[in-house]
Amino acid sequence: MLKGKHIVLGVTGSIAAYKAATLVRLLVKEGAEVKVLMTEMAKHFITPLTLATLSKNPILVEFYNPENGDWNSHVSIGLWADLYLIAPATANTLAKMATGVADNLLLTTYLSAKCPVAVAPAMDLDMYAHTTTQSNLETLRQRGVSIIEPESGELASGLVGKGRMEEPEGILQAVKALFSRQGSWVGKTVLLTAGPTREEIDPVRYITNHSTGKMAYALAEVFADRGAHVELVSGPVHLKAQSPNITVYPVVSAAQMAERTLERYQAGADVTVLCAAVADYTPAQRLDRKIKREKKGPYALDLVPTQDIAATIGQIKRADSFTVGFALETDDALHHAQDKLQRKNLDLIVMNSLEDPGAGFATDTNRVTLISKQGAIKSGTLKSKKEVASDIVDHIEELICCND
Ligand code: C5P
Repeated sequence: MLKGKHIVLGVTGSIAAYKAATLVRLLVKEGAEVKVLMTEMAKHFITPLTLATLSKNPILVEFYNPENGDWNSHVSIGLWADLYLIAPATANTLAKMATGVADNLLLTTYLSAKCPVAVAPAMDLDMYAHTTTQSNLETLRQRGVSIIEPESGELASGLVGKGRMEEPEGILQAVKALFSRQGSWVGKTVLLTAGPTREEIDPVRYITNHSTGKMAYALAEVFADRGAHVELVSGPVHLKAQSPNITVYPVVSAAQMAERTLERYQAGADVTVLCAAVADYTPAQRLDRKIKREKKGPYALDLVPTQDIAATIGQIKRADSFTVGFALETDDALHHAQDKLQRKNLDLIVMNSLEDPGAGFATDTNRVTLISKQGAIKSGTLKSKKEVASDIVDHIEELICCND
């Protein structure tokens, strides 16, 4: 599975660095080509000679070779890599990665790398549990770095707790899982709707909602990271899609969103995820002039229903396409979500409730329950939107592969 894969292994100064020898051997045995970067401190724990011999490549530590001036370009190392794995990753290196410090080759390569990055933390239990370390790990996770969780057990200090680096065999499994996930969506087109819509009342006013598009953009990145071509029909948001695999179709109103989404669906999307908070009603007519304040009494605005994009796709749904809807509910969530799943002919509905603290609009976290057409219900815990996005995509993968 790792045949021909280019893996850059970063080794930092932890006692677990001795395990890097076994790790390199396992990666090479699986067919990967491995280049090792070390920090100065790591050289005290394991010799460059050992890792150079096992990886069959010279070890890189300095920006240049002081003997002959040979330059070790972090840019070309970063571009060469299909995966940048940092194992062991010390608290120090994790903190520098989280803040962008670039004072050694291992770190400049991290900043230059375009490939997926994984870290296997190794440290004493208190350092690992410290709020600073946990918040650095959370920052990295949010930026898409895969964290290979340390184990609980006896540590070099003699203390017992969480912080011991995952064993090389476990890291190898995690690396394989990363590569298998990465390619799983190659050749597939995923259509997503995102954000709010704006329904103009007059030249200065409009009706909208609190949606920020964060959940949809997180989903778009996960699908794109796994190789899908993503078409993102987005209402007005302050976010920017990062991956080159994402094409954004900006829209403003519900009518524009419906038109563009139906066009892209008909162009042949394999999976459609309707994540946008589309206005359900729009003014019956847009006035050309600003509405003036009435002298007295209330002002009534005539609203007409918009087109329900999800329900329309439900009516014209191709048997080979998979559709996912979202249900943001304020009360009796499960019942309403199940009803939407049926009514809009969806394969899966992602339910979140505004009653959940930390879930819903404008937060960076979410807690969702996934309800499939077959009736299976899977409840998640409160996680970052990126992690929730990963869980949702994992679940879609499972459902698609079981229905094949
Ligand atoms: O009925 P409700 O708006 O709560 O349903 C939510 C689901 O339907 C979401 O997936 C949302 O993106 C989708 N929807 C839509 N077009 C609309 C309204 C909702 O696609 N006009």
